[in-house]
Amino acid sequence: MEMNAIEVMKNHRSIRRFTEERVSKELLEEIVECGTRASNTGNMQLYSVIATEEEPLRSELCGLHFGQCASAPLFLTICTDVYRYHRYCRVNGCDEPYGNLLWLLSALVDASLFAQNLCIAAEAKGLGFCHLGTVMYNTEKIAELLKCPKGVVPVITLAMGHPAEEGRLSERLGTDAVMHSEVYHDPTDEEIVKMHEVRDNDPFNQQMVKENGTRNYCEIFTTKRYPREQNEAISADLLAFLRKSGITVNG
Ligand SMILES: Cc1cc2nc3c(=O)[nH]c(=O)nc-3n(C[C@H](O)[C@H](O)[C@H](O)COP(=O)(O)O)c2cc1C
Repeated sequence: MEMNAIEVMKNHRSIRRFTEERVSKELLEEIVECGTRASNTGNMQLYSVIATEEEPLRSELCGLHFGQCASAPLFLTICTDVYRYHRYCRVNGCDEPYGNLLWLLSALVDASLFAQNLCIAAEAKGLGFCHLGTVMYNTEKIAELLKCPKGVVPVITLAMGHPAEEGRLSERLGTDAVMHSEVYHDPTDEEIVKMHEVRDNDPFNQQMVKENGTRNYCEIFTTKRYPREQNEAISADLLAFLRKSGITVNG
């Protein structure tokens, strides 16, 4: 049974365990087509998606994601892609002016909109998925494994398949926390605390605080999940990879 878009979005939950059933070629093509209907910069579609299903490549790719979502029959690696457009420029005898920060960010917006459309279509069709942010931790190795040419940068990974679990509807900040009327409202400390109560008081998150032995929920992120030294080391690797990929982001 297909759900409508509003229902799908309000019920979204990440799925991390999958059945052995593969995603059919027709279904994959349909959700990718839905992705391509998203708005994009100048209708240049500065993204590509690489579908990895066959062994041993699927397992090697999963390994570069530290074994996350190992049961997923399908990994979708979504890349910013100025390479294809540059090739189009070349065959038309035009300049190739898109290997820079402006176009990396534009392509990242395109890739994100493509991915989200694809995700909504996938959920509407009964598939489940989980984003894997580890695509940013091993970007160069993933690009090498998937034979990405220069100018193609893996930025979003979706582990996808037929769900073997229901998943959990996780909490969200209220719309008043994310929406500002007319101009940005700089919140007071009290307002910051209040808007994050939904997260801090969530029993699942409180259990995580206990298990991690941190002072609060926030500290799980700043000391365990995404600590400063790790962020800086990964950022340095990403910059080096972008440079090798022919993308100038810092002069
Ligand atoms: C860019 C991005 C990276 C993510 N990386 C991971 C990941 O590496 N592993 C994981 O289990 N979940 C990952 N997630 C899933 C988030 O943890 C999840 O979306 C968030 O906790 C909200 O839960 P929900 O998707 O079930 O609503 C990622 C999500 C996004 C958008």
